[in-house]
Amino acid sequence: MLERLANKHIVLGVTGSIAAYKAADIVRRLREAGSEVRVVMTRAATEFVTPMTFQALSGNPVHLHLLDAQAEAAMGHISLARWADAILVAPASADFLARLRQGRADDLLSAVCLAGDVPLAVAPAMNQRMWSDRATQENIQGLKSRGILLFGPEDGSQACGETGVGRLQEPLQILTQLAEVFSSGALDGLRVLLTAGPTREPIDPVRYISNHSSGKMGYAIAQAAAEAGARVTLISGPVALSPPPSVLTLPVVTALQMFECVVQQLKHTDIFIATAAVADYRVTEVAPQKIKKTSAPLTLQLSLNPDILGQVKQQAPHIYCVGFAAETEQVVPRARIKLQQKGVEMIAANQVGGENNLGGFSSDNNSLTLCTPESEVTLALAPKAKIARELITHVARSYPLWRQTRKASAQILRFGKPPL
Ligand code: CTP
Repeated sequence: MLERLANKHIVLGVTGSIAAYKAADIVRRLREAGSEVRVVMTRAATEFVTPMTFQALSGNPVHLHLLDAQAEAAMGHISLARWADAILVAPASADFLARLRQGRADDLLSAVCLAGDVPLAVAPAMNQRMWSDRATQENIQGLKSRGILLFGPEDGSQACGETGVGRLQEPLQILTQLAEVFSSGALDGLRVLLTAGPTREPIDPVRYISNHSSGKMGYAIAQAAAEAGARVTLISGPVALSPPPSVLTLPVVTALQMFECVVQQLKHTDIFIATAAVADYRVTEVAPQKIKKTSAPLTLQLSLNPDILGQVKQQAPHIYCVGFAAETEQVVPRARIKLQQKGVEMIAANQVGGENNLGGFSSDNNSLTLCTPESEVTLALAPKAKIARELITHVARSYPLWRQTRKASAQILRFGKPPL
């Protein structure tokens, strides 16, 4: 379950409570689960635990001030909110909850919460009287009605010597619920097949032709699909990435190997997402021995590789197919041409290269325009994990509609149009 926290960006807010020391354990466990953590402390929190503790545990500087000249364009709250996949405030004091309820933005943590459009969870910790007070309870109702998630608090003995509801939940319990945030169930029961990374086309035993694809986008989509409940198979060219958790990863090297591996998986596939940067050509005759240099120019003859995505659509039209189009110019018009030529359901287009590299191959960020025959949606520049989840949300939404339409047109073909 905690594997859903792998590769997630978590902003952990720590507020002024005696339970602030438990946030150190939360950071440690988040990192163990593979999350990257940035800690934001309120001034009161620093009275309980030093920022140094969180800096050492998170491996990142701790964020303390709203107006920080060091922060990017002095807008630390905006960049932190954009960076986050989720914001967790643990422990959340009564005062912080009241301020969050009011939508205040006069310290860094409340401003980050206000600026974020990602899941926000609070784990309250306070004296049991303060928790049961009507003011706190009204604040909690208000926060819940805005979709803010509430983890705890627990019943038990308290640091102040009293007993009752108000204890911070145990770190493991908090993380288990946080991991849930990343499981949408939108692709429950569906089987997703992906290709990712580059392919390598050998020239001789020591040389090859390849490209700059890092595989990051494909791996992020594989993880997002698994988190959405799909059974995921990822056919990957050579990359320097660890296989995503809960994903069956099959390594290949050449385009022909990738093609064969894809074909073998087709009968177990509902949705195919081709993110691989497949080499269009392979060397026609691979030299069995290392080619020695001479003073004469060298000519290599290249043969066209199979278009894996195009072939899948032809051989298995019942599979919902998503392709990628990396372009340096005229991104959307070219994506539309690909959509038609390959007859696929969606092309995710992105700009690569150029002085102003907005994302693409080796970057950790990307922006995509999802083109379908009926629509065009742009996903703004964001970390690839976030873009991947948004893409999966769109696929999960359009897949059932597409299937229904396909079934209906198949029936019309078989039985003719029903009378009006
Ligand atoms: N693709 C594939 N097999 C290939 C080539 C591409 O499956 N042999 C897939 C890619 O994974 C991607 C999409 O097709 O989803 C890209 O389309 P395509 O036009 O074939 O790729 P480019 O080689 O980038 O196109 P061009 O060279 O025409 O710009």
